[in-house]
Amino acid sequence: MVTPVGGQERTGIAGWRVLHFDEIDSTNEEARRRAAAGDEGDLALQADVQTAGRGRRGRAWLSPPGNLMFSLLLRPKAGPARAAELSFATAVALHEALAQLTGEGFRFQLKWPNDVLLDGAKVAGILLESATGGDGALEFLVIGAGVNLAHFPDNTPYPATSIKATLGHRVAVQTALDEVLTRLGHWITVWERDGFAPIREAWISRAAGLGERITVRLSDETIEGVFAGLRPDGALDLLLDSGASRAITAGDVFLPGVVGVSV
Ligand code: BTN
Repeated sequence: MVTPVGGQERTGIAGWRVLHFDEIDSTNEEARRRAAAGDEGDLALQADVQTAGRGRRGRAWLSPPGNLMFSLLLRPKAGPARAAELSFATAVALHEALAQLTGEGFRFQLKWPNDVLLDGAKVAGILLESATGGDGALEFLVIGAGVNLAHFPDNTPYPATSIKATLGHRVAVQTALDEVLTRLGHWITVWERDGFAPIREAWISRAAGLGERITVRLSDETIEGVFAGLRPDGALDLLLDSGASRAITAGDVFLPGVVGVSV
């Protein structure tokens, strides 16, 4: 572990306490440490550099200066399954923020479960981590998000890009963080008040590949079918060639025209 450098509290944004780090191993890891130390939550942690940034499915997450890397520590009054709905709220908030910051909203889409695409290439990702007590109750939820503002990796199993590479826009990290946290505050309030339905609707309206044939790579098999929708619990509804439908709760989705490579 890298000793966190920085950690100063910055002026709150939209009700969040915000901690900034010059360098850290992973903001998700720091959020977990703060949770274990008893932090009350509603805390945002942003780092200029991560030395051990992590992505979904055990992958590393490229975290150089110029990109936005942050985590939220939350203590939702909900069970683990409901709290996981907040990953979709985060994806919608990221989509809204990037549309606002670039003025090119029509070029961004969401890919299940919660990637943000720009012209079909991944520009942002979300990693949810949580802990439950012996009684199964949620102790805390960490939502980590990385946005490729200036840089993107070249060794991914899917096409990737950055805002700068595709749109030529330079978006400052702090500007992006302010916008994203403001939008996230809104969607978390919606979720607390009205539940998952409005978030599901907002997510579906931004979804890539809906009604199209997709490939889903699971841990032990790869299957194809039509992306029929998002189930009320957040699972991807895949219509198989047999006519049966299957709920996908974890996996990598490959959209038409996108060639995936094995990793
Ligand atoms: C993905 O694989 O799509 C999820 C990427 C999540 C990356 C972010 S960057 C900030 C936070 N800290 C981490 O170590 N990971 C998340």
